[in-house]
Amino acid sequence: MMDASQVAQVTEMMYALRNPAGVPTFPIIFMGLGVLTFALHILFVQIMLGTSAITIFGSFSQSPYWRRLAAAMLEIAKVSVSVAIVVGVAPLLFVQVVYDPHWYTSNVLSADWVIGFIIILIFAYWAMYFYYFTNGKNKDKTAQPKARWSMMLSLALMLVVGFIMHSLTSQMLHPELWKEWYLQNGVLDYSGSQLHAYNPWRFAFFISMAIPVTGAMLVTYRRFKMVREDADMGYLNWAADLGKTWIKVGSVIATVLYLAWMMTLPETAGSFATSFWGIIGGVMVLFFAIWAQVRLQGEAKFCSYMALPVALVIGLIVATSREMLRYSILNDFFHYDFMDYKIVMDWYSTGLFFLTFAIVGGSTLAYYLTIAWKAGQTVGVYTPSPAVNRMGTIALWIMILWVIQFFVAGIWTWVQ
Ligand code: HEM
Repeated sequence: MMDASQVAQVTEMMYALRNPAGVPTFPIIFMGLGVLTFALHILFVQIMLGTSAITIFGSFSQSPYWRRLAAAMLEIAKVSVSVAIVVGVAPLLFVQVVYDPHWYTSNVLSADWVIGFIIILIFAYWAMYFYYFTNGKNKDKTAQPKARWSMMLSLALMLVVGFIMHSLTSQMLHPELWKEWYLQNGVLDYSGSQLHAYNPWRFAFFISMAIPVTGAMLVTYRRFKMVREDADMGYLNWAADLGKTWIKVGSVIATVLYLAWMMTLPETAGSFATSFWGIIGGVMVLFFAIWAQVRLQGEAKFCSYMALPVALVIGLIVATSREMLRYSILNDFFHYDFMDYKIVMDWYSTGLFFLTFAIVGGSTLAYYLTIAWKAGQTVGVYTPSPAVNRMGTIALWIMILWVIQFFVAGIWTWVQ
């Protein structure tokens, strides 16, 4: 264990690395948004991993139901990978603002992997699309798909990408080891070729949550498709039953992995595992199994739509626990408090951010989601109503106005 003067040195080092320019609004806002967007990121990562796994399994199965499910889940996987990446950028922005000394040190120490991350991700994405373009146009959804290797490659590479993120996050939690990693056996290591820290239980926990989350997706899938005139209820009920089992079994597996993660925390985490936040994360994951057992009986018309929102709320609580763990290591042990960041208040940019989020994001998303929802429930070609078309026009105008204010504010600041 480190003595007080060693801890003080680490504290000083972290503060010395902090950006002296300060942050443009209260640090807790960045933190809150970081937790929220991480929960969204990991939800879509889990949907993407789970639906990819179903696509692969179904492509090897001889069962017509599995084949059909595989084809349907491929559509979800390919959208989820895009959403996971887009909503991965957001927590990246927030974490690098409030934990810049930690995030950048961790990135520089493993620079090759950080750069490799993008390349591996591109290949993973390509591999999934290769599979999609090879099989997506098949009219017969029960035919044997081709190029299955590319879908397997995609899933494997996605997991590598996730592991890099996990390692970068783990390295942030060990400021006491940064110098040791940089200076190995008296030789400076500039290469950035190593990933220095990881916890297999923590990684496995986040990945295993793909099972219950994808279970929730399957339950939602039946509810969504059952209103179509051409719904095949035999197939849809089979998919939803599979989903219910996945929620229940997957939550139990994930709870066990969560426990293993808590039992292998570094010493610097103190008694976090038995603290409120340490316990509530695991309890909530287990709660998902109980919720599914109680609320997803029979048709469960309303609760089937609740399965994914419930998964998101559980994800939010786990994301909060994960953030509290970081805080308890960096603040309680190493006395680095992100809350005491210098604030150089910029109301315009803070206001603009939230308004963009709510108005530009809200109107565009509302339009997209309405179209996607209605198209998914329509047999044949979907033609939007005039009201839906008007939603699209409004969203477009809001975006044009946003671009205009962007240039006006920019030019005004420039000529000032
Ligand atoms: C597509 C494959 C991806 C997978 C499987 C994946 C998986 C994960 C996992 C498992 C974690 C949790 C790590 C932990 O707490 O131990 C994580 C965190 C994170 N991921 Fe991803 N991720 C992917 C892509 C991305 C992309 C493309 C970005 C951004 C450009 C991104 C940004 C982040 C951020 C910012 C965090 C949290 C970092 C922190 O709070 O310290 N991820 N990801």
